[in-house]
Amino acid sequence: MGARSYTIDLYLFVICFFMVKYKVSYNKECGGRMLKLCMTNDIPDREARAFDTTAYGTLFITQRDGQFFAYKNICPHLQVELEFLENEFLDQDKEFIQCSTHGALFQVETGECISGPCLGESLTVVPIQVHSDGGIYLA
Ligand code: FES
Repeated sequence: MGARSYTIDLYLFVICFFMVKYKVSYNKECGGRMLKLCMTNDIPDREARAFDTTAYGTLFITQRDGQFFAYKNICPHLQVELEFLENEFLDQDKEFIQCSTHGALFQVETGECISGPCLGESLTVVPIQVHSDGGIYLA
């Protein structure tokens, strides 16, 4: 019984550690089914933030004029992560999402590649919801 209790405690510690590390929490008001990623004010207009999730792997959220868009952090060209520097997902003018490997450009609103080797392909949309509490949740 002692060893089993220790194992459960260790398991809970590891879960809590990663929830704190990746700023992940469950929304108890929704029955624990929705995963809160961050608050809207954590993502200023024309910036982006990455999050590690179990459901989608690494994803990122960006804001454009008060709307939030989330995509898996995988370029459709070579299936590699998009950014070279942490949270740097946008081009120099902060107009498009840009892959740091070969420079492909993607529409912020749709994820469609409009320039580069994966022209016409798209980033994978991650469904999110912005709630009245100001939180952004995985839908
Ligand atoms: S890997 Fe992204 S454009 Fe080539």
